[in-house]
Amino acid sequence: MIEGGKRLEGKIRVSGAKNAAIAIIPAVLLVEGVCRIENIPRIKDVDAIISILTYLGAKVEFTAPDVLEIDATGVNTYKADCELARSMRASYYLLGALLGRFGNAQVSMPGGCDFGSRPIDLHIKGFEALGATVTVDRDIVTAHSKHLFADSIYLDFPSVGATINIMLAATRVPGTTVIENAAKEPHVVDLANFLNQMGAQIKGAGTDVIRIVGVDKLRGGTYSIIPDQIEAGTYMIAAAAAGGDVTVENLIPKHMESLSAKLEEAGVFIEEMDDSIRVRSDGKLKKINVKTMPYPGFPTDLQPQILALLTRAQGTSMVMETVWESRFQHTDELRRFGADIVIADERAIIHGVEKLKGASVKATDLRAGAGMIIAGLMAEGFTRVENVCHIDRGYENLVEKLKNIGAAISRINE
Ligand code: UD1
Repeated sequence: MIEGGKRLEGKIRVSGAKNAAIAIIPAVLLVEGVCRIENIPRIKDVDAIISILTYLGAKVEFTAPDVLEIDATGVNTYKADCELARSMRASYYLLGALLGRFGNAQVSMPGGCDFGSRPIDLHIKGFEALGATVTVDRDIVTAHSKHLFADSIYLDFPSVGATINIMLAATRVPGTTVIENAAKEPHVVDLANFLNQMGAQIKGAGTDVIRIVGVDKLRGGTYSIIPDQIEAGTYMIAAAAAGGDVTVENLIPKHMESLSAKLEEAGVFIEEMDDSIRVRSDGKLKKINVKTMPYPGFPTDLQPQILALLTRAQGTSMVMETVWESRFQHTDELRRFGADIVIADERAIIHGVEKLKGASVKATDLRAGAGMIIAGLMAEGFTRVENVCHIDRGYENLVEKLKNIGAAISRINE
């Protein structure tokens, strides 16, 4: 429940990156010994991936609120065809990790956010290039191999999931595997850094070409996860939309460049420090056009949030979604606030309105839910957001964090 119209002021701290954590935790399957992973966000998706690892036989323990120790040495099955795996999209990383460890993998098909078809053909193409035979039977994906071998793989699209999965599968495969047209997202780099810290030889993560020289084995060690680019962006947009003076702390300013540029264009004052960004806004925003792109472009995972902000920007803005084929479901919900949005194929045309009115809305997925919260912070009166379970998948303590900077927001258990 949100009472909108409050000015936001103060400091808000960003947690560890969800999308890095849910790749790095299954990556521990490739390691012999104990991995200590710091800056773990306490969110539902992390709980889910931990449960799957535990189910597989790994020893998992929180030794501090955000520090996880995992020893997967004792895991002796390659089968994760279970309800748990079906419950989250990123369970597909188990395919790459189990294949890399055992040469075989069996995993239930992913669930997760629903924004159109979410194929895994590029992941499969990568596994096949490494010598695996992959079959999909109803909702279960099985990959088998006698032995894997290194190869060069060109991705038709710089898919984050396929890049990560191929890295996982190839880390311990003899020879040099090359991924061309690889995704460059910060969490791709973070996974490579984690694997390298444990003894892998991966070069080029963060560029179009990643080279993986297979190593015999990985050993345990300590690693700290990067801050969450999307959580940071969500709070920057919230401050810009609601108006106020907020410093978003514990972020990597470089990861925020595409957003910072757009917010400045919309009339928001942005000041970059070493590991924080100060956002100042009087809530009066100018129209802008945004096109989602793979990193370093504007992230699709901030599209619902920026779209919510633009509902009140002066003039007509346009948001073009090029990454997902169907990621505008949240605009139906935004209309409940009185927003004026027209969808034409992959474009949303937003005619800015003077004010939004509080509404009863649903979080249709994780980031759409964040968009609803942002609209609620801007709107006059009360907003009720249902289905917050989606938001819990990816935001740590969102309600408390926003409350601390002055938002009138509370969680109601019904
Ligand atoms: C990841 C993020 C997700 C984000 C997305 C794009 C995680 C857990 N999730 O998802 O939040 O929105 O990156 O930044 O990190 N595609 C194919 N074939 C494939 C794989 C993908 O055609 O085998 C297409 C998809 O349909 C989509 C595009 O590629 O149109 C991007 O997908 P991808 O980068 O793979 O996203 P995910 O890794 O699933």
